[in-house]
Amino acid sequence: MKHLISLKKWKKKDIEKIFELTNKLKGKKSEDLFEKNLILYFEKPSTRTVVSFYIGMVQLGGDAIYLTPREMQISRGESVSDTAKILSRYADGIVARVFKHNTIKDLSKYAKIPVINGLSDMYHPCQILADLYTVLQKRKTLDLNFAWIGDGNNVCKSWINASKIFKLKLNIATPKKYQPIEKVSGKIKLTNDPKEAVKDADIIITDTWISMGEEKEKKKRLQAFKKFQVNPKLLKSAKSNHLFMHCLPAHRGHEVTSKIIDGKHSIVFDQAENRLHVQKAILYQLMK
Ligand code: CP
Ligand code: NVA
Repeated sequence: MKHLISLKKWKKKDIEKIFELTNKLKGKKSEDLFEKNLILYFEKPSTRTVVSFYIGMVQLGGDAIYLTPREMQISRGESVSDTAKILSRYADGIVARVFKHNTIKDLSKYAKIPVINGLSDMYHPCQILADLYTVLQKRKTLDLNFAWIGDGNNVCKSWINASKIFKLKLNIATPKKYQPIEKVSGKIKLTNDPKEAVKDADIIITDTWISMGEEKEKKKRLQAFKKFQVNPKLLKSAKSNHLFMHCLPAHRGHEVTSKIIDGKHSIVFDQAENRLHVQKAILYQLMK
């Protein structure tokens, strides 16, 4: 694979290879990407993605440059295609976090170097690779009941893509208006009832009700998602050894209560840590 734009073109064996590499590279420093440079192009804020990619690159012996549109001519109208061609002459890879998925598609179309999606309005593939790795670490299998509660957003859509590759049983509970716009297949069930979705679930996942770029809809969304909070009452019918996941940042008291996110079933910080380990493998695979 040349780029990582979404999981749609990735096969099970590509992802298994990434996880093998993750195990090999985890916690180690090397010179595998010596003298290679990564561009971190971020249109939106980030804590985990930007820091884990930067540190990952350094651990592999390379370097990275963090840029937002403000420092770049792209903010004055330079085209994405010209930007991609120019960056390809200096650097060896691009991680981009963008408002519009088309921007990342254009970057990958015109860049001569690998382009990695660090989140767009459509997908967040690096997150889901780290999340799958985390579930495997904890449970040794993906043959589990997954329940997504809340917004059918970018993270949810990447879970849908992953569930097609690994044939995961995935229940998705969203308000009708916020169902994911993504093709679903056999083992994915869409519902508007969070209770139905979490029944016998092994893994419960949620995310913010207001993704970056949707701030203007805050009032409307808080109202629409009120019944979709992950709290102790909702999780009563999940399996007793269930795990709780959230890509973070979390909004305590909205999509999840502190009791759940700080509770013994929560694996959110392992997920966050695994961003570093799994992304090192992605960088190695695409840039070495
Ligand atoms: N989960 C995630 O992508 O976090 P950041 O927005 O902090 O990068
Ligand atoms: N769905 C969230 C994920 C943040 C990592 C957003 O797009 O803002």
